[in-house]
Parts: sequence; C-alpha cells; structure tokens
Amino acid sequence: QTGLTTIDYGFVNTSATKSAITYIDGDQGILRYRGYPIEELAKNSTYLEVAWLLLYGELPTADELGEFDEKIRRHTLLHEDLKRFFSSLPHTAHPMSVLSSATAALSTYYEHQSDPANPEHVELNTIRMLAKLPVIAAYAHKKSIGQAFLYPDNSLSFVDNFLKLNFGVLSEVYEIDPVMSRALERLLILHEDHEQNASTSTVRLVGSTGANQFSSISAGINALYGPLHGGANEAVLAMLARIRDSGESVQRFVERVKNKEDGVKLMGFGHRVYKNYDPRAKLVKESADEVLEALGVSDPLLDLAKQLEEIALEDDYFKERRLYPNVDFYTGVIYKAMGFPTRMFTVLFAIGRLPGWLAHWREMQQDPQTKIGRPQQLYIGAPHRAYPGAE
Ligand code: SDX
Repeated sequence: QTGLTTIDYGFVNTSATKSAITYIDGDQGILRYRGYPIEELAKNSTYLEVAWLLLYGELPTADELGEFDEKIRRHTLLHEDLKRFFSSLPHTAHPMSVLSSATAALSTYYEHQSDPANPEHVELNTIRMLAKLPVIAAYAHKKSIGQAFLYPDNSLSFVDNFLKLNFGVLSEVYEIDPVMSRALERLLILHEDHEQNASTSTVRLVGSTGANQFSSISAGINALYGPLHGGANEAVLAMLARIRDSGESVQRFVERVKNKEDGVKLMGFGHRVYKNYDPRAKLVKESADEVLEALGVSDPLLDLAKQLEEIALEDDYFKERRLYPNVDFYTGVIYKAMGFPTRMFTVLFAIGRLPGWLAHWREMQQDPQTKIGRPQQLYIGAPHRAYPGAE
C-alpha cells in the first residue's frame, strides 16, 4: 500500500496552488476577477479589457488596451493550409471537437516560437490564440451548417468581428445588431475565468509538464466539453426541449430527478463551489428577458426554465443539497435567440474562458513552486504474484 491513506475524490478538499487571479466565495455567491466584482465588470467592461486584467493583474490604460486590441486584430488570419484541415473533418463533427483539434493543429505553425520559457513567445502566442480561436470557432459553426467561411474584418471590434464571422454571408452586407453585440460581450465576460474549475486545472496540469500554450489550451477545451462542465449549457437546452416535446409536466420531471430515475439530473443546476445562487446565473437570467425582448424572440423554453427554477428552489431535495442555477442554466436560451446552433454553446463558453486559461497557464509558469502535477494513489490491486513458469 503506497502513498497517502486518505483519498480526496475530485480534490474537493485540496488547494492545488496559490492564485491571485480570481476569488470565489461559494457560500456568499461572490465572484471577483483580480478583486473587481463580476457584476461591475459584466455591466461596464469589455471582453478584451477583462482579458488584459486577468493576464496582467491591473486594468489596462487606454493606450495599453488600444495596442492590445490592435495586435489582436492583426493576428486574426489563419494560415491558408489550416483551412484544408477543416475540410478533412466530417460536416457532422461537433464544433467542440473541431475547436480542440484545430487549436492543437494551430500549434504546428508556431513550433519554432513556442518555448514556454521565452516571454516573447508566450506574449506572441497569447495574442495569436485570442485572435485566432474565435475565427476557428466561427469556422466550426460555418462548417456545421454548410456555409462558406468568411475572412475576419479587422475594422470591427472583437465581439462584432466574431458575430460577423458567425452570421455574415458572402452574398449580403452584415449589419451588427448592437443588442446582440452588447449581450454577447457581457456573456463572454461572465465566462472569462472561474479559478480552479476542471478545464482550468487541466490547462495548469498539462502546462506543468512544460507543454506549450496551444497544447495546454487544447486540453482545456477537451475538459470543458464534458456535460458535467461546459457541456452543460448544451445539455440544458436538450433537457428543456425533451420536457417540452414529451408533454411531461415540469413537476413530473422534477420528481424523476429527485428519484434519480435513469440518472437524470437537472442540468444547469448545482455547483462544486457555489452552494448559493451562482452570481453569473443571476446576471444571465436578467439578460435573458432583455435580449429576447430586444431581439423580438419569445421562447417557451425560457418560460420552462423559469418554471423549473421556481419549483426546484422551493423543493427540499434541492434546498438540502444546496442546488441552485449555475452559469449554464440560462445562457443557452440567449445563444439560441441570437441564432447559434445548440452545439455551438460550449464553443462560446470556451471562447469566453480562453483569457482565464491563458492567465492561469502564465501564472503557473511563473510560479517557482510549479512541479509536474502528479497526485498519489491508494493501491487496491492484486498483491505480488509470480508469472506462471517464470524463472
Ligand atoms: C460549470 O467548477 C466550476 O467553476 C465550473 C463552472 C466554471 O465556470 O468553470 O462553474 C462551469 O461546469 C458549471 C456546472 C455545470 N454542470 C451542470 O450543470 C451539470 C449538473 N450539475 C451536476 O452534475 C453537479 O451539480 C456538479 C457536477 C456541477 C457538482 O457536483 P457536486 O458539487 O460534486 O455535487 P455532487 O455530485 O456531490 O451531488 C451532491 C448531491 C447528490 O445527491 P445525493 O447523492 O446526495 O442524493 O446533489 C445531487 C447529487 O445527485 N445533485 C444533483 C445535481 N447536482 C448534484 N441532483 C440533480 N440535478 C443536479 N444537477
């Protein structure tokens, strides 16, 4: 029996590192990026300003932000060969698989400039990923709907360029909808970091072996894909649609969840850290009504989600287990109203989380305590035994 005798499943009682990036108080429902409350950032800041804050620890000056924005615009083009990579994948490929594999493939163009110990390489690849992953994400979307890829439009802001890449078509002039632009900016900010969640811990663990930023971020994307993590926003929409199409009452569905029938869960509910309402979910729910009304969309699934929340919050099963809506519960309804296919929802989460992943990778690289992430185990396998006939 080697190693420690106690097991901390899921590391719920283990702090794997020190970090100065994000603070969460799960009982109070508090979330702060570098000390700034998420509510104030979501309502007043921009995705790139928050990305700078997460990466460098302070809000950028106007000049710093302007230069950061300009550098990113100058790096949005993908190598033309990479576009052939997309055509090698089936059109049915899930956009999260396309994003993670294209991110790993992206690294093959920069192997000569990917030394984790070289600050210039780290800065350059931070810019490259912030610039190119949204383009890859949009290409994954276009591929899934059989439409031509567009080239980035560097005259547009980060979010507006992303909207045009996703919804523009070659045959028409694309008009940016300011409501969609502001709503998507706010949703991306809400996703930018969340301390040691599974995908960020994955990025840190992979980076701790000396792997470069592209490989570490690609691993983080794969971790986020799971339905218990970032994949939950897609799973919430599937759950709501199933309830609607089955004709099953919301009460009956909640009873099935409580009885754990077929392992069914109330997706978008519960959280490893928040044992109170996820502050992000509160902000997303506020936005949902505004955005759908402004876009002139009414979606019965939003009403269904609200009914589910109302019943669950009053029910002892959920109260005893301190299960509240998390960030994934309402986001999908907004993404759907914007026109994103359900299978793009987790890709949007990944683009939101990208600055946080990059900031944590950098913090881990700069931490002298960094060692290869290598937990111990409690061995419960076969005792020593000889191979039959061995000398
Ligand atoms: C994200 O870590 C992060 O910060 C993640 C994230 C981020 O920004 O990076 O916030 C993003 O991943 C949000 C979570 C999205 N996932 C989902 O919405 C999927 C549904 N949620 C569950 O799978 C669950 O709540 C977890 C995995 C999120 C958290 O699980 P915990 O805290 O480990 O809770 P648990 O599995 O120990 O469950 C405790 C009890 C159990 O019941 P009992 O065995 O005691 O009877 O609560 C039950 C669970 O069965 N439970 C649920 C439930 N979540 C927990 N029951 C029904 N529906 C649920 N959603």
